[in-house]
Amino acid sequence: MRVLGLESSCDETGAAVVDGEGRVLSDVVQSQVAVHAPYGGVVPELAARDHLRNIGPVVREALARAGTRLEELDGVAVTNRPGLVGALLVGVQAAKGMAWAANKPLVGVDHLMGHVLSVFVRRGEGDATPPRFPFVCLLVSGGHTAIYRVNAARPEAIVELGATRDDAAGEAFDKVAKLLCLGYPGGPVVDRLAGTGDPTRVKLSPPMASRASLEMSFSGIKTQVARLVAERAGRRDGAWVADVCASFQAAVTGVLARKVIEAAMREGVEDVVLGGGVAANAELRRRVRELGAARGLRVLVPPLASCTDNAAMIAYAGAVRLSQGERDGWDLVATSRTALDRKTRKGRGAR
Ligand code: KG4
Ligand code: ZN
Repeated sequence: MRVLGLESSCDETGAAVVDGEGRVLSDVVQSQVAVHAPYGGVVPELAARDHLRNIGPVVREALARAGTRLEELDGVAVTNRPGLVGALLVGVQAAKGMAWAANKPLVGVDHLMGHVLSVFVRRGEGDATPPRFPFVCLLVSGGHTAIYRVNAARPEAIVELGATRDDAAGEAFDKVAKLLCLGYPGGPVVDRLAGTGDPTRVKLSPPMASRASLEMSFSGIKTQVARLVAERAGRRDGAWVADVCASFQAAVTGVLARKVIEAAMREGVEDVVLGGGVAANAELRRRVRELGAARGLRVLVPPLASCTDNAAMIAYAGAVRLSQGERDGWDLVATSRTALDRKTRKGRGAR
């Protein structure tokens, strides 16, 4: 089976061709960072317009690199939730048009399913060993932060064990970077600068860190950084900024790592999986591996290109849906909500 996947939920336009085993035949990502950087964050209207400009060339490139044509594929998969609705609409409508023109099956993919299953995507070098079900997954991105028990590769078989009550961890990285005037997106810059700072010099405490609960919160620590920055006005040097980055990163990754390992122990699973843009963070990867090894758990971390937004994970999650006999029609919609969170589930009576 070979599937074309499209991704346009936020600020990356992606197209990829993946086979049924998750082998990547092509994976093209056109980033919009330069478009949004002057505004310090993603501007939804500009994102939608840029997807519209880029989706055609990105798809053409993905097919060319895979050495195939639409007519030779087995289906088209597209992110249809969650995300910026105007941005999602571009990918969804392009996918509908292609599926209709080439008479191929169409499947919508929940972006978070893509992140959860990204560990199964096979890129070659640096691939993680595929986990065994059930496993526990920490999904940490710019829009979501949650810990799931994954019983099988279907939304109904995924149980949310804990989630952030306010900001996503990636959002906190981005806001702290903005406060420190480090540009957008902030995660990779904070990651780099934290490596040169001392995490013990600036005191920051992450909320809900010591609770037995698997719930999380990251807005309080951002406010602490805002206060420090205000107090320090005019006396901010490079070394101080690096120390704040190191403290912030240690606090956030410490909570995330402890909670996902705690979740795995409580659930009695052997495998722990990371997914989402913040899973590219070097300190988070190191801490989860270290704590997991101490508890005898297998920690499986996808390569960086599978953590940040990409269409290969969408194509793979779509291939899984197609192999389960699922199909979507012209009525496929775009929505800002995931099917995986507790509130959405309750609303649909699915749990
Ligand atoms: O999964 P993703 O690419 O997009 C969403 O679905 O949100 O995640 C993007 C987020 C951004 O907040 C970005 O700052 C963060 O992931 N990120 C990182 C790193 N690389 C990306 N955060 C911390 N350390 C990194 N190395
Ligand atoms: Zn994402």
